[in-house]
Amino acid sequence: MALIAPSILSANFLNMEADINMINNSEADWFHLDVMDGRFVPNITFGMPVIAAMKAKAKKTFDVHLMIVEPEKYIEGFAKAGADVLSVHYEASTHLHRNLQIIKANGMKAGVAMNPHTPIELLADLIEDIDVVCLMSVNPGFGGQKFIERTYHKIRTLKQMIVERGASTLIEIDGGVTLQNAGLLIKDGADVLVAGNTVFSSPDPADTIKKLKEIGK
Ligand code: DX5
Ligand code: ZN
Repeated sequence: MALIAPSILSANFLNMEADINMINNSEADWFHLDVMDGRFVPNITFGMPVIAAMKAKAKKTFDVHLMIVEPEKYIEGFAKAGADVLSVHYEASTHLHRNLQIIKANGMKAGVAMNPHTPIELLADLIEDIDVVCLMSVNPGFGGQKFIERTYHKIRTLKQMIVERGASTLIEIDGGVTLQNAGLLIKDGADVLVAGNTVFSSPDPADTIKKLKEIGK
């Protein structure tokens, strides 16, 4: 059963409450929140105050994806803002293992996000310590981009590593997820599907979430 995580990046920022309620009342499992700093990625989104405001209305897990440099400086802040799962980028973490320890010490599940160019094998020495691997299937920074096909191979390699090591790590796919590729992603081992454009550009977002959920059943 795959978890569905609509990405707030594609929601209506002028009426966030309506989209939060839509997700609350839908079959979605998590809220996916993309934090960008204009340094790690060429875009800037929102930070702790906005997440804390949304948290007051949201009724599901907050999955916060940090696309920022020096994420260690803000781990405690995002815990206080309401993050339940916090992902830092592999490429932004000089001391990734330490970052995972700090995330867990702050009461959150620890995630590692990997850019499309980063070999998944680099996680071999700490896979047991990771709750969620957020595999980027587009270059991070923007919603609505085209899915990178090589991701299927990365999912299979990662799944094999997780099974061989007896780890309980979830595989999350972020970027370019559609109603067309969701089934193949789940077949290869995806546990969580992030979907921004596919959900929010559809005429009936709650129904699109339902359809994604059905594919994962
Ligand atoms: C991209 C973000 C994604 C984005 C996905 O940097 O990490 O979470 O919102 O958007 P879609 O589903 O539109 O590709
Ligand atoms: Zn994301």
